[in-house]
Formats: sequence, C-alpha cells, structure tokens
Amino acid sequence: MQNLTLLDRLRKDFTGLDTRYHLADGRETHRYYLDSAASTLTLNCARQVADEFLQHYANTHSQAHFSARIANRAYDWAHQQALNFVGSHHAKYIACFAGSGSTAPLNRLARLLAARRPERDITLVSLMEHHANDLPHRRHAGQVIHIPLMGKAPALGAIDLAALEGLLEHYRDRVNYIALSAASNVTGIVNPIHEIAALAHAHNTWIIVDASQSIAHAPLKLTDNGTVERELDVVAFSGHKLYTPGSPGVMVVRRDLLEDQEPDELGGGMVDDVSLSGYQVSQHFPDREEAGTPNIPGAVQLGAVLNVLQRIGMQRIHASEQRLLRRLLAELSAIPQVRIYGDPDLERTPRLGVVSFNLAGLEHGLVAAVLNDYHNVAVRNGCFCAHPYVRELLKPELWELDIDFDTDNAEALIKPWQGMVRASLGLYSTDDDIKALLNGIDDLLAKPDHYRIQYQADRDGNFHHRNFAVSTETLFNPETALDRALAHSGI
Ligand code: ALA
Repeated sequence: MQNLTLLDRLRKDFTGLDTRYHLADGRETHRYYLDSAASTLTLNCARQVADEFLQHYANTHSQAHFSARIANRAYDWAHQQALNFVGSHHAKYIACFAGSGSTAPLNRLARLLAARRPERDITLVSLMEHHANDLPHRRHAGQVIHIPLMGKAPALGAIDLAALEGLLEHYRDRVNYIALSAASNVTGIVNPIHEIAALAHAHNTWIIVDASQSIAHAPLKLTDNGTVERELDVVAFSGHKLYTPGSPGVMVVRRDLLEDQEPDELGGGMVDDVSLSGYQVSQHFPDREEAGTPNIPGAVQLGAVLNVLQRIGMQRIHASEQRLLRRLLAELSAIPQVRIYGDPDLERTPRLGVVSFNLAGLEHGLVAAVLNDYHNVAVRNGCFCAHPYVRELLKPELWELDIDFDTDNAEALIKPWQGMVRASLGLYSTDDDIKALLNGIDDLLAKPDHYRIQYQADRDGNFHHRNFAVSTETLFNPETALDRALAHSGI
C-alpha cells in the first residue's frame, strides 16, 4: 500500500505535465504528452537530488578536497544503481556511462567486441532495431546479417527465433555476437532476450541487449533464472528514456569482456602515468573506460531515478502501464480506419506501452499535425530511427499505392506514406491522455477534407498549417528565460 502511494505520488512529480499551448482553433489546453518512446519527461525528485549535489559539485578527477570526495562517492553510487537495477554484481559486471543515449555505448561495444574476436566476422542484428543498435555494428563489427521477422503483415513484428537459430547454425563459428533490443521503439514488441541468450551461448556467441525502450517500463535482469546460460553479456540503455534528460547513456558489461583490452577512448582520468614516450592505462574500472570529465550531475540524477523505480518495483510499474496499453489497443482496434502495426494481441505477442498506427487514406504527417495543432496531443510520426523495421511492417501497404516505382519521383510520392504515427506511454500517462488521442482521431476521421485543406505538405512529408503558426520563440526563448532568471536572482 505504501509502495502504491509512492507510485501514485511519483506519477505527478514530473516537469511538463501542465505545460499549456494555444491551439489552431483558438483554445488553450494543456499538452497530452504521448511521446515518451522518444524521450520521457523529467522526474523532479531525482532532479532535486542532482541540484542538491551541485552544492558540492567538483570534478571526480580531483581527490583531496571535501567536494571532490563527495563527487567521487556520488558518481560511484550512480554506477552502483545501474548495476543493482539489472541485478548484476560488480565482481562480474561493470557499469560505464558514455554519451547522451545508448548510441555512444553501442558504438563502443561494437568496436570492443569486434576487436576481441576479429576472426568471427559476422554479427546478427534483428530487423526491428533502432539505428543505434544496427549502424554501429555495420560500421565496426564485420558483416551484419539481419534476423528476419516472423509471420505476415500486418500482424508480424516479432523476430523469427527459428530463423535466428538457422543463422547461428549456418554461420557456426563465424558469428561474434547478436545485437537486439529488449523491446521495439516502434511497436513495443518484447523480445524473449533470455531465451535468445541461451541460444547465443549454445553457439559460443555473445548477446548485446539494447534496453533503451524497455528499461523504464518493465523488469529487466541480466538473468531470469540465475543460470549463466540465460545471462545477458551486455545491456545498454539511455537515460533520456528513463526520466532523466541530460544524463549519459549506460552500458553494463561482463567484466571479462573489457579486461585485457585497450580502452576505446583515451584521455584524462583513465591513466596511471603518462610520459612523453608512452602511457600506462589504469587497471581500475570503470575509470579506464570513461576517459575525460564525466557528466556527474546527469549520472547522479539517473542513479536517483533507478533507485526510486526499484523502490516502487518494476513489476508494479509494468502492470500499471499494461492496463493503459490494453485500453489504448482495444480502443484503437475498435476504429475500423485504424491500422495498428505489430500483433495487437498482448497474450500472443507481449509489448510495452508503444503503439504505432496509421489512419486509412491519411498521411502520418497530417495525422500528427492535426493531433498537435487542434488537440494538443504530442505524438511522433515517421520511421522512428528504425527505417528497415518500419518499411518491413509497411511493405504490403506501400505496394498497394498507385505509384510507379520506376519513375524518378517515386521516392517523393511514397514519402508521405512511408511512416506511422506513434503513441507511447510513460509513468505519468493517464486515461485522459488516451481519451484526448482518441477524440483527436475521431475528429479527424469525421472531417478529413476539412483538415486536409488547412495544411500544406513539404518535401519531407511534414504538414504545415496554412494559417496557424506558433512562434516557438514566444513560448520559450533561452535569452528571455535568462533575463527572467537574472531578475529573479536580483542580478
Ligand atoms: N529513438 C527515439 C525514438 O524512438 C528518438 O523516437
């Protein structure tokens, strides 16, 4: 009961829940934020921890003074929160922070694992990946072969485990590692990562799991039953999808994969000694993997989020999100003009709080623009940095279009149709958000022509209102915000 109260209280403890905008029809309403799969809002209590830490801010490369000692302790604590969150022990795993999302860790991991076993020249990457967990492997890790999807559109969406096993058999002794997400950022579909880990390890292959989309929404442990066979070798995730904008990306890596390996980046804080003729890399982790001054406040804030989510319990957070997701899927499925991507049956194909869809005959750019301009519903549209997956899901529809694919302007003609609208949930999402989305969809479907003539499409498939334009400068201008801050502080 006490935990439930904490969850309920935390739901309201976010910055941006009462942000208001003027709309194209003259109304002013608060924003309905359904774009958490892109970035989540800021959890205030964790932000407060970081703000309090700033009273003591100092570089972790300094050691002697009080503030430096506090900074080092707080930064270590943040690493420990990441390890605890995924159920790892520092004797076996190392947590490192890098970059501003999972992209930097994933690039680094691709280079690192490729260098460990250069004789293994193939990497298997699932077709559902975000570009961050695809392109780094293409660049750094030899030949990438994509693991196909299972089933037929529009119900497909999950990866084909039998095909994966076939690839592992076929390229026996050549596959270095498998890279896949714990859940898709397009459909929210969840992968059976521990089953895949067992398959990978039976073939002496490692597994990298990109948990960016799942980490804030469902429990994720390195092993689900305590056995090493089902244990993940690497997990990476983003702080900005975990209620901590401005925080680093995270990787939790098996220690033996990092040991005896020249660190990927060189600089201050990761060497014991440097002379004009050489340098000696520190043996201490994670220091040797974190060259340069780290993002200490961001890491501390992220550590606080990880800590408080564990206090609530990820099972409880997951259950609460699933309730909203069921409602969203049920109500969208009941509208005949809505096409949902990926199997919408949660018993058959589990997914997290992400639903991508299209409305028959309406471009995704138009739908997103109307939802925003007339209903204050913030959704993302397009291909969500996962072009191959989105194209695969859209394939049957794209071929149905009356477009001659051999003409020069085929790409321009197809562009407005090559994408989806995505609604995604966070800890603060409510039934009201879903209601606002559904109202917007109903309204658009009731008078599509009325809305279409209000807009003009550009070459990129974005729709711009002909008579209504918001000057973002009037809503937020860093210089006037600074003036206000100076005035407030009497400076
Ligand atoms: N990768 C983020 C998304 O899925 C930005 O939208």
